[in-house]
Amino acid sequence: MRISFGPLPSSAALAVFAHKDVVLTRGAQARDDAGRIARAGQVARFEGDTASILELLAPQGVDASRLLVVGLGAAGKADRGAFERIGGALAAKLLTSGETVLAIDMDGVDDIGVSRAEAAARIAYGALLRSYRFDKYRTKLKDKQKPSLADIVIANAGDSAGKIFERLKATADGVYFTRDLVSEPANVIFPESFVARCREAMAGTGITIEVLGQTEMAKLGMGALLGVAQGSVRQPQLLAMRWDGTGGAQPRPAVFVGKGVTFDTGGISIKPAGGMEDMKWDMGGAGAVAGAMLALAKRKAKAHVIGVCGLVENMPDGNAQRPGDVVTSMSGQTIEVINTDAEGRLVLCDAIWWAQETFNPEIVVDLATLTGAMIISLGHEHAGVFSNDDGLAQQLIEAGAAAGDPLWRLPMGDAYDKLIDSPIADMKNVGPRDGGSITAAQFIKRFVKDGVKWAHLDVAGTVWSAKAAPLWDKGATGYGVRLIDAFVEANLEAK
Ligand code: BES
Ligand code: MN
Ligand code: ZN
Repeated sequence: MRISFGPLPSSAALAVFAHKDVVLTRGAQARDDAGRIARAGQVARFEGDTASILELLAPQGVDASRLLVVGLGAAGKADRGAFERIGGALAAKLLTSGETVLAIDMDGVDDIGVSRAEAAARIAYGALLRSYRFDKYRTKLKDKQKPSLADIVIANAGDSAGKIFERLKATADGVYFTRDLVSEPANVIFPESFVARCREAMAGTGITIEVLGQTEMAKLGMGALLGVAQGSVRQPQLLAMRWDGTGGAQPRPAVFVGKGVTFDTGGISIKPAGGMEDMKWDMGGAGAVAGAMLALAKRKAKAHVIGVCGLVENMPDGNAQRPGDVVTSMSGQTIEVINTDAEGRLVLCDAIWWAQETFNPEIVVDLATLTGAMIISLGHEHAGVFSNDDGLAQQLIEAGAAAGDPLWRLPMGDAYDKLIDSPIADMKNVGPRDGGSITAAQFIKRFVKDGVKWAHLDVAGTVWSAKAAPLWDKGATGYGVRLIDAFVEANLEAK
């Protein structure tokens, strides 16, 4: 999608605006001879609600193939999120409509909750996010099914719109990268190809990449991560991506650690066949971390951030680990593997320990599609956050709310921790069924060093969507990229 801020092109689809109760902005009034919009609005029950759209096809006397009157809601109210949703709604409506150009007239879009330039940039950002598609393997799409919309031109946006959008475009690029990684099937994205994609996308951005393979990880004693990987013919990889936009001024970085199980069959504790294909996106946490790193580097964030991805494939095999096996993690703590399908925590515990030893971070935040129980508790509207630090939890929740990746906090405590004690090792990798997301978090907490602020985001319900939403189509959502980006901007960047 090409996005520009400039004069209105002719004979495109044209969007103009109306507040609640169809109070027309100047741009809308200019195309409303004979009260056409009010009449059409009545017919279509259009009331000017936020991001609702009234569509007039081939309107007479207007230089446009169709006129879209877009609701702004109550006067003074429309905020950044509202304008992102507006952009998303326009993109969704026109993407395969046959229109190639969307012109948006911001003339008279005032009396809103943000500056007009901010509004215009957010519309562009929302439209970009919503127009992502993953069509590369669909070779027989009819022309009518293919995206037609290629250009969005926003007029009367105010001088700084382009500059604000440039900043947002970096984040959108990160979201697109994450969605590509998450959408790809597991025969295409496996640990080594995940790393290759990151190298390619991050070349020239200033990110430095370090990768450990099986041999290096064995030397470091990562028995937990390697135990998961041993049933697969794919080599595991531990990927670290460093972005330092401070020139060394922040010696202790923030580290984001992603669960990157490129396919989760469950291993010997094999999952049922129905729906197992979903487990290609069991690397959604790692995908979000990689996309966020790309976004931070593209916008030259003034912070020192490291993204670590623990990449493995969890397969059943003659060499796969068995229920009852005891593995020794890099931390020296031993783990009884009761269920080989609780593999994410086994990957994370070594990745997190290595990250702490290697980078001496002040903050560690992990993102993982860790438990089905998370989906039972929060559905698909929030990811869960668990933390040893109230301040960090609050900062993450606020960043998530502002960025459109919402979080909800869940409790932790000693009584939950006890549930993963093992009679044969230091801990077992599963507790009882009840409180399954919390005992998973307790497991990870046992690998967080004293004095490190840590949060665990269980994103099992949010990285993939069965239905379209304002800012994504069904499929990979890119959840986590905007959250990390906003968290870094609000809390880590030198202002
Ligand atoms: N990757 C799954 C969790 C998951 C399930 C994510 C469904 C998204 C959708 C994880 O590795 C897993 O299998 N967890 C088990 C843990 C159980 C064995 C304690 C689960 O949730 O059933
Ligand atoms: Mn599993
Ligand atoms: Zn998993």
